[in-house]
Amino acid sequence: MTYEIAVIPGDGIGPTVTEAVQPLFRDLAAEYGFDFTTTEYDWGTERYLDTGAMMPEDGVDQLEGYDSILLGAVGHPDVRDHITLHGLLLPIRKGFDQAVCKRPAVLFDGIESPLRGYSGGDIDIVVYRENTEGEYSDVGGRTHQGFDSEVAVQSAVFTRHGTERIVRAAFEAATEREGKLTSITKSNAQAYSMVLWDEVVEEVAEEYPDVEVERILVDAASMDFIRRPEEFDVVVASNLFGDILTDIGAIITGSMGLAPSANINLSGEYPSMFEPVHGSAPDIVGQGIANPLAMVLSGAMMFDHLGEEAAADALWDIVADQVADSDAPRTPDLGGDAGTDDVVADLRTRLDAH
Ligand code: NAI
Ligand code: MG
Repeated sequence: MTYEIAVIPGDGIGPTVTEAVQPLFRDLAAEYGFDFTTTEYDWGTERYLDTGAMMPEDGVDQLEGYDSILLGAVGHPDVRDHITLHGLLLPIRKGFDQAVCKRPAVLFDGIESPLRGYSGGDIDIVVYRENTEGEYSDVGGRTHQGFDSEVAVQSAVFTRHGTERIVRAAFEAATEREGKLTSITKSNAQAYSMVLWDEVVEEVAEEYPDVEVERILVDAASMDFIRRPEEFDVVVASNLFGDILTDIGAIITGSMGLAPSANINLSGEYPSMFEPVHGSAPDIVGQGIANPLAMVLSGAMMFDHLGEEAAADALWDIVADQVADSDAPRTPDLGGDAGTDDVVADLRTRLDAH
């Protein structure tokens, strides 16, 4: 089997980690009896600064035929973030109807959580973030611009269809995990959209009588991700809330540099996209110290989605082995002094021995 993968390294540390992991993915494919081609797209902020657009006008169409998309990160200190995000990442997520953003937050053995008293295995959460609508619907506008009377309107759009499909995906995941689902809203204050969300959760829950359902407001959930993260299993949340909570999930499990994500097109009609949760990290760009593990694990999620489950499991295993080994190289975000390439070289050795 040969998979065709579109690679968008993007900005900042995106190209560093995307390039670093590819030899490892080649080894993996050879070992597990599949093949893949990569086609690289140099889309991102440099292209924007040269041409005024992050990607060509038909960019999304160009990606349509691929089996999947691997993306590094986008964002640059010289360009405002709404331009880079709306010029590349969001059009792909929305254009390919990537309804489910799946983000695991796992505390590995050997990783120190900033939370006192937690060790490997204590935190194992997967967040299902709605990925095509909600607060990121791009509905709104500005008027009276530049005058004292200036007005900005930003609407959140919640559809029954969009809510139901993310909620259902989360319930399905819960049946395969510990059977616990936490729905996070702000339905006390957002009395239309989030009340619809609550109603959908109640309706879908009837189909999954074995799943225990908990509902928490997002402010309390932010506290509970810190106070009692061990009690979460599957978490389902809107686009904005899922975005925020997964940064908390990443940091309580050690580092932004460890957190992977998948943007899944549920019908399979369009490619899904795999990317680390982290951004372009301009504070460490060019130093060769970006942690590649979030990208490695994003690759694992990609291979799993493509049907190469054994290869995906092998990647998770060797990452878990590496971080559990106190003699293994670690990047500075995990308290070490190794570089990106050292970490990948060590993983290649571990894969050989796997
Ligand atoms: P960020 O995730 O880029 O960085 C936050 C902190 O985590 C920084 O201290 C950074 O050094 C560290 N960090 C992140 N990834 C790391 C890695 N692999 N290894 C070691 N340390 C790592 O978030 P920030 O600083 O808020 O945003 C920077 C730019 O990235 C902005 O332009 C933002 O819009 C963009 N961004 C893009 C995202 C994407 O492409 N999906 C997601 C989040 C932000
Ligand atoms: Mg984010």
